[in-house]
Amino acid sequence: MDRRSFLNLGAAAGAGLAAAAWFDPDRVYAQATAPWTLGLADVEDDVAPHKLRRLHGRLPAGLEGALYRNGPAKFRRPGRSVGHWFDGDGMVRAWTLAGGEATLAARFVDTPKRRIETSAKACVMPGFGTKAAPGSQLEGPDDSNAANTSVIRVGDALWALWEGGSPAALDPVSLETKGFAVLRQDLKSMPFSAHPRREASGRLWNFGWWRDQVVVWRLSPQGALEDARIVKLPRASYIHDFTATDRHLIFVLQPWVQERMAMPFNSGFAWRPEQGTQVVVIDKADLDKRRVFELPPFFFFHLGDAWAEADGTIRFDACIDPDPSFAVTGAAKLLSGEASGGPAPRLALVTLGADGKARLEQTSDAAEFPRNDPRYAGLAGNMTVHTVIEPGRPLSRGIATRDWRGGKAQAFDFGLDHLVEEFVFAPRPGGSAAFDGWLVGTTLNLKAKASELHVFDARRVADGPVCSLRAEAALPVSFHGNFVRG
Ligand SMILES: [Fe+2]
Repeated sequence: MDRRSFLNLGAAAGAGLAAAAWFDPDRVYAQATAPWTLGLADVEDDVAPHKLRRLHGRLPAGLEGALYRNGPAKFRRPGRSVGHWFDGDGMVRAWTLAGGEATLAARFVDTPKRRIETSAKACVMPGFGTKAAPGSQLEGPDDSNAANTSVIRVGDALWALWEGGSPAALDPVSLETKGFAVLRQDLKSMPFSAHPRREASGRLWNFGWWRDQVVVWRLSPQGALEDARIVKLPRASYIHDFTATDRHLIFVLQPWVQERMAMPFNSGFAWRPEQGTQVVVIDKADLDKRRVFELPPFFFFHLGDAWAEADGTIRFDACIDPDPSFAVTGAAKLLSGEASGGPAPRLALVTLGADGKARLEQTSDAAEFPRNDPRYAGLAGNMTVHTVIEPGRPLSRGIATRDWRGGKAQAFDFGLDHLVEEFVFAPRPGGSAAFDGWLVGTTLNLKAKASELHVFDARRVADGPVCSLRAEAALPVSFHGNFVRG
């Protein structure tokens, strides 16, 4: 399929969404009272840069840079609210560390969707779990781009990422939105996922998914487009994340299959566990060269890093669910203060044998947001840090690390007064061993009603944070981000 028909599919879908106008004036959000609902509260204004208050310890010497994070921060408007957690307006946060002090600034991404909905005083644009309403203006994928899922530094720019459209380019200092990035004029508006994979060399791989095909993007470390190819996959599975070794791209095709274009978008998918899960391994050097492995059915949003061993065996970790109920209903109910009560995702290890057989080993760890040491991306010897989910309560309460080579797992529990967000690795200057450095991340302190920044020694997580600082703002839980060295 060429690029034109690829985009036409998106435009046709968009037209369908806009035509089937829908509005439910009776939809109201319950008065949310559980403390965790602060993690899905609305933010009305940008957060001006301000210094953080130190609660504990000192920022380590050598830890200089910025933790950029992104997540939805505006869900409700007087005329109508979004129908799903994933459809709120993206707000990029910059937690900057310099000279032993930390500051926070946060700014909404200035998207067409946000402008239309601010003016309408209603959330009218379609999304992952939100139907379009009268007043929606949809001519292409970026008109409903929430720019709310992750943020990466590419060359001189920050890119706020979604998954159904283009990166939104921001100024890394002021966080001002400059507009959607166009990687090549003839590829304008093609989907660019929120989970690019950067090789140890700095080269960036990403995909954009549409039904049973992906566009595979390859960018130089500075962000220049080197190549983009459309690759057909065996099925129209929902793909939020992929992974990669140094030589392979790995797409996991879960049996949550898109069977029709529908509104909201997630209602067009069907859970087909009888189809199992397929893993497609594609050679980076020849995208036509592929192997397909079969696994039992599972649902997932996030994969950890992948690596190949000397005999050709490939392994990667993943946070897996038994089914897509959180994506369909659980994450929608959160907005009205209702915990889904479903099972939490569990950390698992996938092994793709050189003999063509695949194996899934599930741990008992309730886990999400797996991240790794980017200097070891795609290589053996990396480690994983993930959040620890509280069973029965939405969102995370701790973090843990795991060394898949048999090293000891470590965990730290912030307790039920915190909603814990993804933690990322920041290297110690001069160090080179995996996880020689710090883990940097944020929590929302429900008791203090304030967002906090925490730094751990990456190899001594069980000891607790070496430094904790508190902001003046309480920002809702965000999804993903990256640390950029200063
Ligand atoms: Fe994600």
